Formats: sequence, structure tokens, C-alpha cells
Amino acid sequence: MAAIVRGRLRHAVVALAAGFGMALLAPMGAGAQDYPTKPITLVVPYAAGGPSDVIARLVGQNMSATLGQQIIIENVAGAGGTTGAERVAKSAPDGYTLLIHHVALAAGASMYKLRYDTTAAFTPIGLINYGPFVLTARADYPPGTAAEILAKLKADGSKVNVAHAGVGSGSHLCGLMLNQALGVSFTYIPYKGTGPAMNDLVAGQVDVLCDQTTNAIPQIEGGKIKAYAVTSAKRLEQLPKLPSLAEAGLQGFEVTVWHGLYAPAQTPAPIVAKLNAALQKALADEIILKRFSDLGTLAFPADQRTPAALDAYLKGEVKKWADVIQKAGFKAE
Ligand code: MLT
Repeated sequence: MAAIVRGRLRHAVVALAAGFGMALLAPMGAGAQDYPTKPITLVVPYAAGGPSDVIARLVGQNMSATLGQQIIIENVAGAGGTTGAERVAKSAPDGYTLLIHHVALAAGASMYKLRYDTTAAFTPIGLINYGPFVLTARADYPPGTAAEILAKLKADGSKVNVAHAGVGSGSHLCGLMLNQALGVSFTYIPYKGTGPAMNDLVAGQVDVLCDQTTNAIPQIEGGKIKAYAVTSAKRLEQLPKLPSLAEAGLQGFEVTVWHGLYAPAQTPAPIVAKLNAALQKALADEIILKRFSDLGTLAFPADQRTPAALDAYLKGEVKKWADVIQKAGFKAE
């Protein structure tokens, strides 16, 4: 009944506007109340099968059930995750095109000359998950321990082929930070995401990959690749035998990858509230939390899954990475 009344009201507003020769403006308020009435596209800025894709599909499926509409994952890879981000930044702010992105959204602001303003182009929906990277290598890579691989990386420098998900991606930032810590420069092999990069590591086509636990743990457990150390300050419960890189000799080394959910700037508040409620519900789901935990990543606590918390977090990370990138002289070639 309420929907019929709202529908009639909308027609009346449109007819009135037409009658006065006014432009037919979209009845924003009513549309936001009815949202969502059609499938939602969730842009993953990397290739299918990688860590961002895994998180998007897990969380997206649950949110889709809550919202009563399909969530279609679209992998828009390129330029270290900035191509997908730009696509969403320039989409209509109607809640039907969303972005899942990680730390590289923040770092991209300093790595690239972008056609969007990272801290103004999006409406934050909420923080999702966070966790470390793992330093991994092909199964027949000679080093046996974290100390040994660090020594080999330092000695071999540019002879080491390191895969990553594009300039400025998380895996690339991890590699650059290793370069800085070891005083060397690797030969980088870019992919559209660490999904395909991991396939080539398993096939022995590249030497090293610094990947998110969400993508690395299944391959480590399957004995397909070697794992040496994690990039968190402390050891990870799911990979207890691996030291942290700090423990292995790179003092102060710490890189965390975190995902957030975004809509384009100017998305109406009722839509943001619905999306945030669906995200909160997904991140309280025991099945999702168990899967996150198996993959070595953690959901942000409930009070940090808010739009305001993501807004503050993103701004903080943009500043932090601007500093790191400027001091280290990293840039997109
Ligand atoms: C990265 O290296 O930034 C990610 O692993 C990208 C991805 O999800 O493939």
C-alpha cells in the first residue's frame, strides 16, 4: 500500500514538473526509500579469483540476500586498482554501482596522477576486513627460512622476479617496502591481480609474490608454494610457524591490507544506511567470520564498520602512504 501511494506521489511530482516545463528531475527521495529495485554492480578493481574478489563474493552474497537484489561482481582491473576506482567515482550516485577496495585506494592517491580525488570521490559505506601479506615463493625456490630468503633477496636484487597486481597494488607496495628495507630493486612482473599472479607462482613462472593471506593460505596449505614470513607486527594464528618480517630481521616492517566498501560521492543517506546495515549484518554472520578466520583476515569491529569510521580511516591512510611514498621515492613508472 505504502509503495502504491509513493508511486502515485512520484507520478504527481513528475507530472507537475512537466506541467511547469521543468526538467524531469529524478525523484531522489522516493528512489532512495525504494532502494534497491534492480541488481547492484559491485566493482572489484582486480582480476577474478584474487583476494579482493574473494572478499567481494563472500560479503556480496550475504548483502544480496539482505537487500533482496542480486549483487553482480564486475572485475575492472588495471593501473593497480585505480581503473576500477575511477569507474565507480564517475558512476551515478544511485547505489547501483559500488566499489570494494583496499589499501591501494589510499596509496594510489600518491602513486598516480588520478582523474578523481580519492578522499572526495566516494561515499564511504564501511570498513570490512584487515590482515597481513605473506612473503611467498615458488615451491622450488632454494631458501628454507625467512632469514635465508631475506639474504637471497638482498644478494640477488634485480635477478629476482617478483609478481604483483599492478603498479601501486598491495602486492607491489609490499615488494617496494622490501626493496627499501633491503636496499635492492627487484624485477617486477605485473598482473591484473594476484589471482593470476598466484597461478604463475604455483606454475613456477615467477620467483616471489607478497600476497594477502586470503589468497596465499590455500596454496600454502596445499603445499603448492613456499611461505616465509608475514607482514604483521606479530605472528599470525593461522600460520604459526611463520615469523613476522620484523622478527626475521627487518625491524619495524609492517604492512596491513584492509578493505572498505564505497559508493560514488553524493549517494543519498537512506541508500548509504541500507547498504551499511546489510554490510554490518554480513560481518556479523558466523559463516563469513569463520571463512575470514580460516583465510587469516579479521572483520573490523562493529563500531568501525560505519561510514564515518571508513571516511576517517581512508583519510588517515592517504596521509600515511603519501608520506611513505614520498620518503621512499616510489612512483608509477
Ligand atoms: C593486491 O596485490 O593489491 C591484491 O592482491 C589485488 C587482488 O585482489 O588481486
